[in-house]
Amino acid sequence: MKKLLFLSLVLIVISQLSYSQKKIWDESTEEKEERLSEWTEARFGMFIHWGLYAQLARHEWVKTRERISDEDYQKYFEIFNPDLFDPAEWAKKAKNAGMKYAVITSKHHEGFNMFDSEFTDYKVTNTPYGKDIIKEWVDAFRAEGLGIGFYYSLIDWHHPEYTIDRIHPLKANSQEEYDKLNKDRDMEIYREYLKNQVSELLTNYGKVDIIWLDYSFPGKNGKDRNDWGSVELLKMVRKLQPDIIVNDRADLKDYWGGGDFSTPEQYKVEKWPEINGERVPWETCQTFSGSWGYYRDEHTWKDNKQLLVLLIESVSKGGNLLLNVGPTARGTFDYRADEALEKMGEWMKVNDRSIYGCTQAPEYFTTPDNTLLTYNPKTNRLYVHLLDYPMKNFRLKGFEDKIKYAQFLHDASEIRISKPYGHGHKQEMGENDINLDLPVNKPNVEIPVIELFLR
Ligand code: GLC
Repeated sequence: MKKLLFLSLVLIVISQLSYSQKKIWDESTEEKEERLSEWTEARFGMFIHWGLYAQLARHEWVKTRERISDEDYQKYFEIFNPDLFDPAEWAKKAKNAGMKYAVITSKHHEGFNMFDSEFTDYKVTNTPYGKDIIKEWVDAFRAEGLGIGFYYSLIDWHHPEYTIDRIHPLKANSQEEYDKLNKDRDMEIYREYLKNQVSELLTNYGKVDIIWLDYSFPGKNGKDRNDWGSVELLKMVRKLQPDIIVNDRADLKDYWGGGDFSTPEQYKVEKWPEINGERVPWETCQTFSGSWGYYRDEHTWKDNKQLLVLLIESVSKGGNLLLNVGPTARGTFDYRADEALEKMGEWMKVNDRSIYGCTQAPEYFTTPDNTLLTYNPKTNRLYVHLLDYPMKNFRLKGFEDKIKYAQFLHDASEIRISKPYGHGHKQEMGENDINLDLPVNKPNVEIPVIELFLR
């Protein structure tokens, strides 16, 4: 019995050892930090979900949601012609909003390719539009000085060899049915196809900053790293573009180098995400409304303040925000997206110093009620975002010996540091507390920011 116990212990240790040694490539933590630094400092990017589904205008998953056959989906391919597409205008909008990089769908789950691929006919150059959208997009976004990234769907609801799984438009009702449907499908061939396409994307468009592989759903009638050939795929990605940043959805979370950042989708993290007790780089991806692709009749649009809080809160927990636009099939942005971007831009224009290069504040600063803190370690400045504008006296607990100077960020007007007035106030002050003497009226910015110069 004891021997058995010992043996299983040894086995566990061995498996743990080999587990922690799994690697896609060799890179130290410092090297990784350096490789990611520009992206980390940028903090704010644009996601773009665009494909044939824009024409159906009711979610990018419409093909599977409504179980549409290839034959019925074909008409969208035959008429796709975004005649108003002006990527230079898109790039300007992203830049004016304060975004520093953008990631576009080169292929989404529907399987349609927005780029000119050698390995399929199901691509934009064979539609009435006739041109390589990805190429035009890359040129325009690069010209604006934005970082560029490609989303590539591992999932494919069009490729004839891609096996039917539990989220496929042709999904089955029983295992027997699955087996029958998949009898003549060969994932090996699809795997090769996807590898070839990723290789094209990383070869034909110059330097690519980010690749977003989406996504894995292991388990019964699902798909995992073995289906995608993720280890080989990621090795190829690293070889073709050594500086590229890769998301974490190829099912390689136990591999060093299998993904660079975590991707909380459509929710706010409670705190800086950790893996094995270590804080990890992260980026939350979020939509303006309830869909990634253009959705004409969806109305749950977030307002300006919600969007700003999303951005500030992400930075306050050490993360990035990738905010999505789903362009129409004409190639334009929805007017609500335009408005939202403009308003964020207005705020960013005078407050971006509290976003770029910033991160979570050191722990010794207690966050005052109704605020979010960000911190720039290079300039040693702390930013207090006032989500609910206070009444005159604004207490900072335990800050006294740390602050040199205080001002509003948007207009660089001094905020006087005082002892608070009002009956009995003094007695409530902790030894190291200070008070900021704020004007009664909220400044004319959605979320005012106090910039604190630290000692
Ligand atoms: C999900 C969805 C998809 C969207 C993506 C964005 O994986 O399947 O429609 O593209 O998340 O993160």
